[in-house]
Amino acid sequence: MSVISFDAATRTWLLRTPRTSYAVRLAPDGTPRHLHWGPPLTLAQAAGLELEEPLELNDSRGLLAGEELPVDGRIRFSVPSLQVRFADATRSIEWAYADHRIDGEELAIRLIDRHYPLEGTLHYRVYPDSDVIERWLTLRHTGDGEPFTILRADSAQWTLPVLDDYRISHVTGHWCGESQLHRVAATHGETVFTSRRGVSSHHANPWVMVDAGQATDTAGEVWSVALAWSGSWRITVSRAQVNRLAITGGFGHDAITWRLRPGQQLTTPAFAGLYTMDGFDSARQAWHAHIAGHVLPRPDELRPVLYNSWEATGFDVNEENQIRLARIAAELGAELFVMDDGWFGARKDDRAGLGDWTPNPDRFPRGLGPLIAEVRRLGMSFGLWVEPEMVNPDSNLYRAHPDWVLHYPNRERTTIRNQLVLNFARPDVQAWAHGWLDQLLRDHDIDFLKWDMNRPFTEAGWPGEDDPDRLWIDHVRGVYSIMDRLRADHPGLRIESCCGGGGRVDLGILRRTDETWPSDNTDAVDRISIQYGYSQIYPARTMAAWVTDSPNFLNGRLVPLRFRFHVAMSGVLGIGGNLTEWSPAELAEAAQLVAQYKRIRPVVQHGTQYWLRSPSVVTPGDGWPGGTAPGGLTAVQYLSPDSAETVVFAWRPTAHFGHPPPPVRLRGLDPAATYRDEDSGREYPGVALAARGVRPTLPPGDYASAILHFRRVSG
Ligand code: GLA
Repeated sequence: MSVISFDAATRTWLLRTPRTSYAVRLAPDGTPRHLHWGPPLTLAQAAGLELEEPLELNDSRGLLAGEELPVDGRIRFSVPSLQVRFADATRSIEWAYADHRIDGEELAIRLIDRHYPLEGTLHYRVYPDSDVIERWLTLRHTGDGEPFTILRADSAQWTLPVLDDYRISHVTGHWCGESQLHRVAATHGETVFTSRRGVSSHHANPWVMVDAGQATDTAGEVWSVALAWSGSWRITVSRAQVNRLAITGGFGHDAITWRLRPGQQLTTPAFAGLYTMDGFDSARQAWHAHIAGHVLPRPDELRPVLYNSWEATGFDVNEENQIRLARIAAELGAELFVMDDGWFGARKDDRAGLGDWTPNPDRFPRGLGPLIAEVRRLGMSFGLWVEPEMVNPDSNLYRAHPDWVLHYPNRERTTIRNQLVLNFARPDVQAWAHGWLDQLLRDHDIDFLKWDMNRPFTEAGWPGEDDPDRLWIDHVRGVYSIMDRLRADHPGLRIESCCGGGGRVDLGILRRTDETWPSDNTDAVDRISIQYGYSQIYPARTMAAWVTDSPNFLNGRLVPLRFRFHVAMSGVLGIGGNLTEWSPAELAEAAQLVAQYKRIRPVVQHGTQYWLRSPSVVTPGDGWPGGTAPGGLTAVQYLSPDSAETVVFAWRPTAHFGHPPPPVRLRGLDPAATYRDEDSGREYPGVALAARGVRPTLPPGDYASAILHFRRVSG
């Protein structure tokens, strides 16, 4: 049970989640200050706590004082969460407390500026079955005079207790190398994680975790925060000289401004925070459960095994080659056939046609109908690739509406992958995009859209608009609202978020999509560390993973089919190879592995995840991502929601010295119960699987892998 309560005498709010508490105190100067974020407290205990009083150091008072939302002004020199410039150029804010409202699981603390007609409300939300606390900010212009300029409006600042040391975990990456996990000491000063690209980005992902430097997978306190936003963002971790650390974060990046006009309100996205006590496993598991319970639109479903044609046919799609692939995919057991790029307009390569969303008449002379009918006859559902936010200059759409793209009047329009970004902040662009997508879904039996977004914003101008920077926010809101409307009007529609691979994976997009494409890199070895980094916050049920051809298109690596499957089977299995070139033996093995996946899928997609042997993370001095776990063996375990079944994936990309694989020690089992190995029939006491572990049986050599599947038989 989660509850929010208030102690009027000390002006203390207490938020209780099932396993944690968060307390805020209204300080005598009218600012809400952080009091506690950690193990459970009663209201009386919280009321008895004293605020960490700022030392009289005049260099970072806002941070030292643990303000819930530091602003500009007075003796504050640390990073402000909120910066406003009033019409007379005043840049400081002086809050006075107005009131608060507790509404079930939500708390709103309303503050008003002592002079200017600005109202700011700090929002908090708890959930009955999750330790994640969501925080956001609303700003309102309550006057009738000049607009205000918002220079920064973070959703919240999260303050940590005073610890001896702090370590930050975060991911970095690039196209085909997303989600590499780093653990680094938090430096004194400010560490900024950001995207200035208009999407959450491959380069960083909007979350960080902080611990005291000693947390392991199974022990230690971890504080983590994640922003629910799919555009540009900024998270700043500040560490003060006297060991105080706080994290402020929100949408938009440096130098973007918004105008707040009289009567208008600005609502920021949620910046969610989580405190966990039992190491990184428990932090990851809590995020996964929260996303399943409170973010994803259809968490109850099992994601189908998909076939996608991209790596097989590239841009060269036509009715005949897609039907040929679909027939083989259906035989393998695929449940959803997705036709990728190249089906529309003059799209024969990446130089033309984006924006012209009608089937290419040479490739689909009878339209998409016959292909879709055949896919359905084969027993699969049908999905289609779209990239609604983009246009090739060589397209009818661009020739008709050159003003629809982000641009500045006197600057070049820089193309990336020969394309420009449509300004989805514009109502006419939104109406156009919603119109053709809605029509496409009305005219065809389409169950799934792979919604791609293949380039960042550049020259992000909006000539003629007097507050053009707001496009950074409103573009994202435009995308969200179109997805939301399509889902509402087409309840069977499922959406995959793709952004040149994993460039738009975040809690914002996951609210209206069902899975994501974590990377265009489909090499099974590289994927292990990509999937590990991904899983720090995002659950396996959202993580699409394809088996593609060997040698891999990216790095030329030759990897056996079984290993490729075993890596992809630890997420949402898909197949993306050119099946017309797979041998009968490979097809038979693939069909068997798909059938095995379907048996373990409920455990993988809906179970609890434990990284038994984590790939190495990037630490200073090491500097190279993608390493394997000690002993060369990486292993991840899933435990079914009813704890009756567990599945372990063990991967050994490289064999070392002829050593046998180290045993993997299972987690989350009942020590008193007996578990049967579903393959060998052997039985093991739970205590032995946990304490002694079990050695996976691996074939000799490199790229060896195994799936262990245990079922509880007694106890
Ligand atoms: C992006 C996606 C790929 C594929 C291509 C199509 O790169 O990440 O999976 O859909 O676009 O052009």
